[in-house]
Amino acid sequence: MKCFAIESTAHTFGAAVVDEKCNILSNEKSVYTTEKGGMIPRELAEHHYKCAPKVVAGALEKANCKMSEIDLVAFSQGPGIGNALKCGAIAARQLSLLHNIPLIGVNHCVAHVEIGRKLCGAKDPVLLYASGANTQIICFENSYYRVFGETLDVGIGNFLDSFGRELGLGFPAGPALDKMYFEGKKYIELPYTVKGMDLAFSGLFTAAKNKIGKVRKEDLVYSALHNAFAMLTEVTERALAHTEKKEVILGGGVGCSRALQEMISKMCEERGAKLFVPPNSVMVDNAAQIGWTGILMYKHGNKTKIGDSIILPKQRTDDVKVNWRK
Ligand code: FE2
Repeated sequence: MKCFAIESTAHTFGAAVVDEKCNILSNEKSVYTTEKGGMIPRELAEHHYKCAPKVVAGALEKANCKMSEIDLVAFSQGPGIGNALKCGAIAARQLSLLHNIPLIGVNHCVAHVEIGRKLCGAKDPVLLYASGANTQIICFENSYYRVFGETLDVGIGNFLDSFGRELGLGFPAGPALDKMYFEGKKYIELPYTVKGMDLAFSGLFTAAKNKIGKVRKEDLVYSALHNAFAMLTEVTERALAHTEKKEVILGGGVGCSRALQEMISKMCEERGAKLFVPPNSVMVDNAAQIGWTGILMYKHGNKTKIGDSIILPKQRTDDVKVNWRK
């Protein structure tokens, strides 16, 4: 069985071909970037519409496969930016209708868990999903991926990009900030906001922004990232303690951060838990994870009718009944 998948929740327009053993036959993408400012939804949609034909054709070519060999079309139905989601949904519906192939809408956050579980061999992990728009600590309990903790304001990646922009680092700023983190020598007092199991980053952002130009840049980056990642680590540890799970898996673009990986790995070591870090190519937004999750869902009787394939920008991780896991 081969699945053709499309990802388009945010800056990435991706297309992939995946088979039922999770062999990733292709995983192509085009990423919208800007030198100044963040994502402008109108420009984002323009980028996706323009690159879609090339990315779709590229994924088929790389996988050495024709649409006639495809058994399922999967697409990221939500959550995400409406303008971006629409491009992927339109492309997926067209392919499904033109070639008479079943369609499946996939939740992007759930797909991060599933690709990580499959590629790393984790059985029942706590997922720390840290990306631009999403920051959630997710575990499987009783037929759903439940959100045990999440951001109350912006996503961690959004915080990093905004902070990086103030420092003149462009978008995305994560890799440059991560490098600077290791050049920091001194901790500067900044807010640390964990409320129960939830987190907030806007106070930290304002305080860090106000210190730009007054302290050494590297020390400020070190301190801001130190607090933000310690907040994520604290909530992940509490989710482990509460659920008594023994595995942690990273997902989302911020999961690629070496600074975050070091901190989480230390916590896991101290708790006797195992940390799984999937390859960067599937931690960032990608279509392969949509394809693999689409296959899992389809094999368990799920299917999306064209009439139900409307985009779901606000769909939550715990909206999706996970009938493919016991
Ligand atoms: Fe993502």
